[in-house]
Amino acid sequence: MTLRVLSIASEAVPLIKTGGLADVAGALPDAVAPHGVAMTTMLPGYPAVLKALGRTKPLHQWESLLGEPARLLQGKLGTHPLLVLDCPALFQREGGPYADMAGRDWSDNWRRFAAFGRAAADVAGGAVKGLTFDLAHAHDWQAAMALAYIRFAPAGTPVPTVMTIHNMAFQGYYGSDIFALLELPSWAWTYDGVEYHGGVGFLKAGLESASAITTVSPTYAREIRQPAFGMGLEGLIDSRGDRVTGIVNGIDPAVWNPETDKHLLQRYSWRSIARRSANKRALEREFHLDQSDGPLFVCISRLTWQKGIDVLLEVIDHMVGLGGRLALLGAGDPAMEAGLHAAAARHPGKVALRIGYDEALSHRLQGGGDVILVPSRFEPCGLTQLYGLAYGCVPLVAHTGGLADTVVDANLAAIQAGAATGIQFAGVTYPSFADAITRTINLYHQRDTWTQMQRTGMKTDFSWKRSGQAYAALYRQLAGAE
Ligand code: ADP
Ligand code: GLC
Repeated sequence: MTLRVLSIASEAVPLIKTGGLADVAGALPDAVAPHGVAMTTMLPGYPAVLKALGRTKPLHQWESLLGEPARLLQGKLGTHPLLVLDCPALFQREGGPYADMAGRDWSDNWRRFAAFGRAAADVAGGAVKGLTFDLAHAHDWQAAMALAYIRFAPAGTPVPTVMTIHNMAFQGYYGSDIFALLELPSWAWTYDGVEYHGGVGFLKAGLESASAITTVSPTYAREIRQPAFGMGLEGLIDSRGDRVTGIVNGIDPAVWNPETDKHLLQRYSWRSIARRSANKRALEREFHLDQSDGPLFVCISRLTWQKGIDVLLEVIDHMVGLGGRLALLGAGDPAMEAGLHAAAARHPGKVALRIGYDEALSHRLQGGGDVILVPSRFEPCGLTQLYGLAYGCVPLVAHTGGLADTVVDANLAAIQAGAATGIQFAGVTYPSFADAITRTINLYHQRDTWTQMQRTGMKTDFSWKRSGQAYAALYRQLAGAE
């Protein structure tokens, strides 16, 4: 029996992306399809999404969706069905999905994503003629309210639901005054409903309402039971522990494959790694970096505390002192951007950056860099280290979350067994990060060992095969369709 699943997300590749969530939501329909799951994705109607849809006939209309008129449009996400909530008052505006051009969160985000959740719950519950679903799967706080609306719907048997946490740091927490405007029944205002510390917690409500909870790596699934990672929700996660599993993200080989990557000057496979050097030279030219026989470190990241960029700033002098160079692509915290500019000015020809978001450049950096840096303080899964592994750009990562689960540290035993794929360090502090940089540069100069690490990483299977199967098995179990 084919299971019909509604995947509810606030971004999905190739239509709209601010981070890894989009990669995952975009890849999921293909990942579960071979396992008998027909997935429909539902997205908010941001301008970029509507533009890609073109003209379509509305499937459904809301006269008042939390006070605003809205329509449900249909389109395609790749080859899979897509539903788009067209609600101009909430989603048709210049700027990002969550913040304005100046980077300030939209002040009505609670209303935007409550309305999105409300609409998704209606769709999952069968409000739209001809559309029925066996299960609803919500991603992160922006989609979480869908599960509360499903649970607190006045009529019918609610469909089973899955809540996936891509990042516990973003929870969608608002004041109690919004509760009356959510159009939920009064009994939703309880400690195991939407109420959270006297306000409304969107992610919290989703976690309380979900039939099952997943996050994007087994290690992060364990970590979020502790205060440092649970960020206030550790008690809830712990109490629902039997419902929490970690399913690691895969990568989409149609987008991330060095043998077919249209962004690369030279395409290559693990058999022809030597061809990467042309890509490296091209990067050096592009970033105005000196040529040298030392490693080229690269970093592709949101510039935030989570990503450890403040500690990266501290180790740059050490890295350059040992013959390393750095090319960074990222955007975010203005103080971190300023720190990076200062480092580039201090080390001309050795450190260079591009501030901004550039998909094609992110591919070129993976295809020509020697080492991808991911010094995150926490990392639910992390995708850039997976892309690095697939591209022979050896990951240097902090030992946390999905980074710990996907990179095999080059300790002596792992090197001898031919299993090492990268370098891990524990604790995002100057001494441990600097020590890991020293270790990496030493390994880089042991050419046979380094090439072996690149090859092992490139040959590892990070496809969605296993994880697609795991999601499908979970859906089946919840839908009673085993
Ligand atoms: P997160 O979602 O927490 O930012 P992930 O590692 O899961 O972290 O995913 C980040 C995604 O965003 C990757 O696909 C990465 O290549 C991409 N990315 C991050 N910053 C940039 C940037 N400045 N330009 C292009 N792509 C970027
Ligand atoms: C979040 C996490 C990241 C994860 C991504 C996709 O943005 O920060 O670690 O890879 O979601 O699941």
